[in-house]
Amino acid sequence: MSRLTINPGRRYLVRFSPKRVPHMFTDVLIIGGGIAGTRAALEIDPSLSVIMVTKDKLTQSNSTYAQGGIAAVLDPLDDVAIHAADTIAAGKGLCDEDIVNMVVREAPERIRELILYGAEFDKENGEIALTREGGHTHRRVAHALGDATGREVMRAMIDAVRSRDSCEAWEKTFTIDLLTHEGRCVGALVWNEQHGKTIVWAKQVILATGGAGRLFRETTNPEIATADGHAIAFRAGALLRDMEFMQFHPTVLYIAGSARHLITEAVRGEDAHLIDCHGHRFMPDYHELKELAPRDVVSQAITEQMEKTQHPCVYLDLTHMEEALVAERFPNIRGVCAQFGLDLARDRIPVRPGAHYMIGGVALNKDAETTIDGLLAAGEVTASGLHGANRLGSNSLLEGLVFGRRAGQMASTRAHEIQDSFRALPVDGDWSPPEKDESAELDLTDLGNSLNSLMWRNVGIRRTGEGLSQATQQLDFWNRYVSQREFHTTQGWEFQNQLLVARLMAAAAQRRTESRGVHSRSDYPKTDPAQAQHLMIESSG
Ligand code: FUM
Repeated sequence: MSRLTINPGRRYLVRFSPKRVPHMFTDVLIIGGGIAGTRAALEIDPSLSVIMVTKDKLTQSNSTYAQGGIAAVLDPLDDVAIHAADTIAAGKGLCDEDIVNMVVREAPERIRELILYGAEFDKENGEIALTREGGHTHRRVAHALGDATGREVMRAMIDAVRSRDSCEAWEKTFTIDLLTHEGRCVGALVWNEQHGKTIVWAKQVILATGGAGRLFRETTNPEIATADGHAIAFRAGALLRDMEFMQFHPTVLYIAGSARHLITEAVRGEDAHLIDCHGHRFMPDYHELKELAPRDVVSQAITEQMEKTQHPCVYLDLTHMEEALVAERFPNIRGVCAQFGLDLARDRIPVRPGAHYMIGGVALNKDAETTIDGLLAAGEVTASGLHGANRLGSNSLLEGLVFGRRAGQMASTRAHEIQDSFRALPVDGDWSPPEKDESAELDLTDLGNSLNSLMWRNVGIRRTGEGLSQATQQLDFWNRYVSQREFHTTQGWEFQNQLLVARLMAAAAQRRTESRGVHSRSDYPKTDPAQAQHLMIESSG
């Protein structure tokens, strides 16, 4: 295991006086309302009070936008040992095998539970229909609404959470920072337009804030994916792990004005081909599994083919597929393409890779415990050990379900053990630093665009030591005048969070002097067996 120490800057993004802000008390505070957060909520003993805060509407999460599906062994001809072996093979030496076995073993049960919550999966001859994605050697991806699995699953989960009297959902509420007392997590400082800043005291906090794709110019992620959870956990002193591993999805719609729509890997699972601008089907040149090679291989192959052809994208070709199958399986993608005048029976879809899934995150054990007492975590904000250095498609909603449930169970047990009546506590760290000079206005949109371009160029799909070092210098420069400021809007806090997490990613990518899974260094193109270890990042603050 190797370790980096980084100074996160000030402990809290804003000044607040515990005497002047309203206080709320709850048994469990859940931050984030995607699959991990909602699954956690449903596991908490209904005799305990739960507040779930989400920075946008509950329907806005990376989980809602998931297309492909959820991987699970549901076919009697498949085997959990093979699902585990595929996950471990894709993870390139960094999966925690105990975690992999635990997660894939639980998968069928977690899907059955979703059906009980009301999710309707697509069926074939009365059984759940299964498709294939890259790196899976068997058809084991359950899907819904054709290519809108996340939408259907989250509809059911949100309905189930809303029907729980013990759970209050605070939407459009931004979590500015976690609060700790003598090193233990005791709640969070949150903000919303209606009430301003509020302290929410909780016996247990579950962090389930999702991903970080919005750090990059090209991404499949919605606007909310700004790495807030990674940043607030790090400022509170949690250990982070493997922050160099950002997964780039191979096929993101590349049409100006199209908001970089994901084109699910399941399209390739049903036999779509990748061709370059000359019409050459290139994946057989790169891997024996062709279009169904693991994601890191396909993303790198596309990047290389774009360089070779000097063309800004490649194309997904579905023209040889049955029109009825395309219409039934991919209604959402078909509709989006149609908006841009593309008819999939005739036209090819322009695509290129984009940031998709943050593999690195808050270190946790199999019971969803982080290194901070009182703080549990689940889903994309974590590094659970399931994905190693490259995540297998459709293992992430599964991870959210498995760890969300565990986080909920642990929070219930622990909250029952804490006998204290609710009370406010002195919080660690300086919450009233002197006011800084903020006379110069900052154009946060300009800064955000610059950060996205820098990350895409220098910390993106192909990295070099020189590029990473330039990125670090630039990030440090921005940090000098941004980190000490106090912002009063979510845009400002999001930018500060992104800047911190960008620094962690760049530092981790610089430290890993090899190529492994989704982390590709042109100056170190080989995998170095001596570096088959996790990289922990601790806060020096
Ligand atoms: O291609 C996809 O549908 C993505 C699936 C995933 O990221 O798990």
